[in-house]
Amino acid sequence: VNVVFIEASGNRRDIDVPEGEPLMYAARDAGVVGIIAECGGSAMCATCHCYVVEAADGALPAPEANEADTIEFMGNEPRENSRLMCQVKATPALEGAVFEVATGRS
Ligand code: FES
Repeated sequence: VNVVFIEASGNRRDIDVPEGEPLMYAARDAGVVGIIAECGGSAMCATCHCYVVEAADGALPAPEANEADTIEFMGNEPRENSRLMCQVKATPALEGAVFEVATGRS
């Protein structure tokens, strides 16, 4: 599943994520700037926080309570379209989706 990450510099990165895998792993392993994933994917650190810039309708299931809480308390400038990339799994519906790296509070 191909998705795009926009780094803080404006640089666009095309990332191929195996279906069923959270987007964070492929983004981190590809060295997307800002995707640090300190907690290793447990929805606790918000260093994988991104804004959903473009995605097909219904492509992203609503966040669970723990994800929403971490975004609210740990995320840098939480917005309506904030998500933790460790909690969003690659599905065919996400093909071509675009995410802007937002990460955590410093
Ligand atoms: Fe820590 Fe996603 S990797 S919240």
